[in-house]
Amino acid sequence: MVFNKFKNKKLIKSPEQIEGIRKAGLLNNAVLDEVAKHICAGMSTEDINTIVHEYTIAHGGIPAPLNYEGFPKSVCTSLNEVVCHGIPNEDEILIEGDIINVDSTTIVDGYYADASRMFIIGRTTPEREHLVKVAKECLELGIKAIHPYCHVGDIAAAITKHAHDNGLYVVRDYTGHGVGIKFHEDPDIVHYGKAGKGPVLVPGMVFTVEPMINIGTWKVFVDEDDDWTVVNDLELDSAQWEKTLLLTEDGVEILSE
Ligand code: MF3
Ligand code: CO
Ligand code: CO
Repeated sequence: MVFNKFKNKKLIKSPEQIEGIRKAGLLNNAVLDEVAKHICAGMSTEDINTIVHEYTIAHGGIPAPLNYEGFPKSVCTSLNEVVCHGIPNEDEILIEGDIINVDSTTIVDGYYADASRMFIIGRTTPEREHLVKVAKECLELGIKAIHPYCHVGDIAAAITKHAHDNGLYVVRDYTGHGVGIKFHEDPDIVHYGKAGKGPVLVPGMVFTVEPMINIGTWKVFVDEDDDWTVVNDLELDSAQWEKTLLLTEDGVEILSE
């Protein structure tokens, strides 16, 4: 039983667990749809937090970020040069041309699903449009590289090639992750690297892919004031899209997007 070690590490989900994560994924999608319906210039990132929090609770879910390792809000809102883990704030007002990542994770009956989308506020610059589009393509090409018994590095290589072909950079300090029973599980899903390297992905695994794509540099820093907000080291723009995926014998099922 070659793959017993995965089962022992609980990396392979049971059909019951998959059904639970699927349900969490549907509510998480609906939360992001609700944000999409309302997001606009003049709104604060705190207003986005309120939408996510209230919609999630009203539909029987729990927003996983709230109090997770001390995170103070129910969703991450990462504006322009913020890479990830931005904290909603009533003084942060969206303006025309902004690009923002909204990253929602929902718990339903104890199961977790995690996804994020970019939103463009009104019309923006060609450079920002390109960044958001290429970041989305990086996620899609990363997903296309996933097959039963592939290596995590196969995903990373597809993402890295597309980013570099477009003059953009892949953040290395943060990864995708197993998800479902907990917020963050093994394995780490790196987005930067070489095909054939890293852990093997086996049917029954549930994990995220969530490449963070920067202009100018792959490097980042963490805001010293809040210890959460991750920023492009050159303070140039950054974009990210995330999905929760189930690997099956036939390919990939998207559980949340
Ligand atoms: N949703 C993020 C991820 O994709 C994690 C956010 S942790 C938080 O893994 F505490 F900032 F919410
Ligand atoms: Co997320
Ligand atoms: Co995630």
